[in-house]
Amino acid sequence: MSKQLILALSKGRILDETLPLLADAGITPAEDLGKSRKLLFDTNLPDVKLVVIRATDVPTYVQLGAADLGVAGKDVLLEHGVEGLYEPLDLEIAHCKLMTAGITGAEPARARRRVATKFVNVARRYYAEQGIQAEVIKLYGAMELAPLMNLADEIVDIVDTGNTLRANGMEPRELIAPVSTRLVVNKAAMTMKHARLKPLIARLGEAVARRR
Ligand code: ADP
Ligand code: PRP
Ligand code: MG
Repeated sequence: MSKQLILALSKGRILDETLPLLADAGITPAEDLGKSRKLLFDTNLPDVKLVVIRATDVPTYVQLGAADLGVAGKDVLLEHGVEGLYEPLDLEIAHCKLMTAGITGAEPARARRRVATKFVNVARRYYAEQGIQAEVIKLYGAMELAPLMNLADEIVDIVDTGNTLRANGMEPRELIAPVSTRLVVNKAAMTMKHARLKPLIARLGEAVARRR
């Protein structure tokens, strides 16, 4: 294992909230992440590097030890699974909810409900727990379109303000899980690199607490 600590960050909407939190914990990228096509960055700390990758790839990098730590949404962790990962810290950013949703006022008609989502594992688990038969249809985005186009009866998606649902004539139904952004750590690294990881996690925890 290398002596460096590699921290994997989710690009997209989490990144804008992650960087100020890292700064509060004393970690700043050596260059402007937004202005660069680079994916691997030095920081002000000689032993800490950052990689900026797709949110859904963060658990994979950390699980397989390519990164020691990662920043990922609880939604992504629920979908991917957390084998080989510790989740020591709720970073308390990017709050939203995983919910079912459907066309406003429409009753779920058929016995075997068609559910469009990118969270197929979350959806299968949820409907099974509810004792509802569901045919889960994998999509990669714009889930809110599926019921309008009669591709599905219901969706499982992220809801924050509810604006996207409302704009498409849909309403939230059941809460599956509250979501916020979590710090995850590779289990083997937690043992092997404990001396360097422990103070880093502690500083991040203090930065989170200062914002409450
Ligand atoms: P993607 O391109 O995979 O949708 P995003 O940057 O939109 O990536 O989302 C990254 C993470 O931000 C999600 O995994 C989720 O935890 C959180 N998130 C997504 N949508 C919202 C939202 N509308 N409000 C707050 N947090 C959100
Ligand atoms: C996310 C999510 C919903 C929307 C919910 O999409 O997939 O569509 O936000 O937020 P709201 O309840 O405040 O409207 P995002 O904007 O990330 O677009 P994406 O399809 O590119 O992921
Ligand atoms: Mg998104």
